[in-house]
Amino acid sequence: MKKKVLVIYFTQSGQLNKAVKATLGPLENNAEIEIDYEQLKPKTPYPFPWTYMQFFDAFPETVRGTACELEPFTFNTSGNYDLVIIAYQPWFLSVSVPVNSFLQTAEAKQLLKNKKVVTILACRNMWLNAQEKMKVALQSVEAKLVGNITYVDKSANLISLVTVFAFALGGVQDKYLGIFPKYGVSEKELTEQAPVLGEIILKHLKTNEYSNQQQELIDAGAINIKSNLMLLEGRGKVLFPLYANYISKKGTSGTADRKTRVRIFGIVLPTAILILSPIITILSRLAPVLFPKKIKRETDYYSNNSLRQ
Ligand SMILES: Cc1cc2nc3c(=O)[nH]c(=O)nc-3n(C[C@H](O)[C@H](O)[C@H](O)COP(=O)(O)O)c2cc1C
Repeated sequence: MKKKVLVIYFTQSGQLNKAVKATLGPLENNAEIEIDYEQLKPKTPYPFPWTYMQFFDAFPETVRGTACELEPFTFNTSGNYDLVIIAYQPWFLSVSVPVNSFLQTAEAKQLLKNKKVVTILACRNMWLNAQEKMKVALQSVEAKLVGNITYVDKSANLISLVTVFAFALGGVQDKYLGIFPKYGVSEKELTEQAPVLGEIILKHLKTNEYSNQQQELIDAGAINIKSNLMLLEGRGKVLFPLYANYISKKGTSGTADRKTRVRIFGIVLPTAILILSPIITILSRLAPVLFPKKIKRETDYYSNNSLRQ
């Protein structure tokens, strides 16, 4: 009997979709596998490119996990899927609103209960906290996370900070100002590495035995963690909810009363990254020397699919 896979995804520019297609090539080409795709569509579409205010105004609801309304789904909620793939991008160190909204629906609860799930992310470089939120969401619907693949922009943090803004706010992906590298996941990674990761998923899907899958994915380079970014995310994880609540006290998405607080955040966030990034990079060079066990323990934890108690 054919194995059935459902891919749930949301993408604005198509980058994530490209990463998913590249990964699932080996499954697509296998006659024993059947794949259904479900693209999540918010009833009020998110803009792309975003204006400065639209972008930062999305911060409080994203961090607080407030759901948006989605167009009706086409997949069969009681469909007997052997594997569900959730492909998403982090927004503000959290699961992007459309995917997080999906996870809160009755359909998701019905679909995902007792299902094996693989997550695929394509993002800038900060995904640890979003994946922790994903783990919590999956646990609450009784799904089992059996694999995680992350595709990131491999440029230095401050370079991709500039290029992600040029992309998200200006729609310019390639050679911003003629000097910056292309934003996003490299073509080489998608053509060379992604199918290798897909083969690993295919192998485990065929046997329905996933106990070693994540380790094989890690060994094949599916996980990208840098200790400087781990430290930087640690700061954001604490501060973001506080500022998200502070903005929300002035009103809901788009309200005029909260504009000043949103605007301040839009200045403070890039400035803080700009200032903290070099300091944290120095600290992160020292951290593995000063606290080798802790850094290794944290890297191992975030590379894997268990959820800390
Ligand atoms: C509102 C917003 C917030 C973002 N926050 C993050 C983030 O916290 N970490 C990260 O690595 N990338 C972040 N990104 C980049 C996205 O993960 C992703 O690379 C980009 O949006 C393109 O994805 P897509 O076109 O497939 O939707 C953010 C993008 C947007 C639009």
